[in-house]
Amino acid sequence: MEFMNALKNRRSHYDIGRAVKISEDKITEIVKEAVKHTPSAFNSQSARIVVLFGKHHDRLWDITMEKLRKVVAPEKFEPTEVKINSFKAGFGTVLFFDDSTTTDGLKAKFPLYSENFGIWAQQANGMVQHSVWVALGQEGLGASLQHYNELIEDAVKQEWTLDKGWKLSAQMPFGNIVSHPGDKEFMDLEERVFVFEK
Ligand SMILES: Cc1cc2nc3c(=O)[nH]c(=O)nc-3n(C[C@H](O)[C@H](O)[C@H](O)COP(=O)(O)O)c2cc1C
Repeated sequence: MEFMNALKNRRSHYDIGRAVKISEDKITEIVKEAVKHTPSAFNSQSARIVVLFGKHHDRLWDITMEKLRKVVAPEKFEPTEVKINSFKAGFGTVLFFDDSTTTDGLKAKFPLYSENFGIWAQQANGMVQHSVWVALGQEGLGASLQHYNELIEDAVKQEWTLDKGWKLSAQMPFGNIVSHPGDKEFMDLEERVFVFEK
C-alpha cells in the first residue's frame, strides 16, 4: 500500500516555495536512488540527470525567461513571466537528459533493434522522471514536469559544461508545497483497463 499511496500522492505542483526542510544532500541522495533503481532497455542506463540548487536553479529559469522573451510577443509576455517565476520560486530543478552516445552505441551494436533504441531511451527517461517525481513527493516536496527543451538545451549545456551528446528531455522544478492542486478528473477505468479472467 505504501507504493500505491506514493503514486497517488504525486501531483503536478505549481505553487511551490523555498521553505524546504530537508537538505540538498538528502534530496540529491533521493534523486540518485530513484535514478539507480529505474529500469532501462538492455540495462543501457542512458538517462543523465542534473540537479540544480540555489543560484544554479535561479540561472536555469533566468535563461528560460531570456529565451522566451525572444520568441513571445511583448504584449503577451505577462502570463509567461508569471509562469516562469512560479518555477523559479521553487527550491531546485532536476534536468533530465538522454545520453545519445549510449543510445547510438546500442543501435550500432544491435542493428536488429536499431529503430527501437531511441523510443526505449525516451520511455526509460519517462520512467526515471516518474520515479524522481514520486520520490520527491514522498519527502513532502511538490514538483511539476516542464518541457522547454529545444529552446534552452544549447544554453543549458554551455552554462553547466555538459556533454554535447546529451539530449534534454524535461525539467522538473520542485519545492515545498505552498498550496495543493485541485482534484483531477479520472476516466472510467472500464474504458482503460481490460481484464480477461480465467
Ligand atoms: C509526458 C508528460 C508531459 C507533460 N508535460 C507537461 C508540461 O510540459 N507542462 C506541465 O505543466 N505539465 C506537464 N505534464 C503534467 C501533466 O499535465 C499532468 O501530469 C496531468 O495533467 C495530470 O495531473 P497530475 O500530475 O496533477 O496528476 C506532463 C506530464 C507527462 C506525463
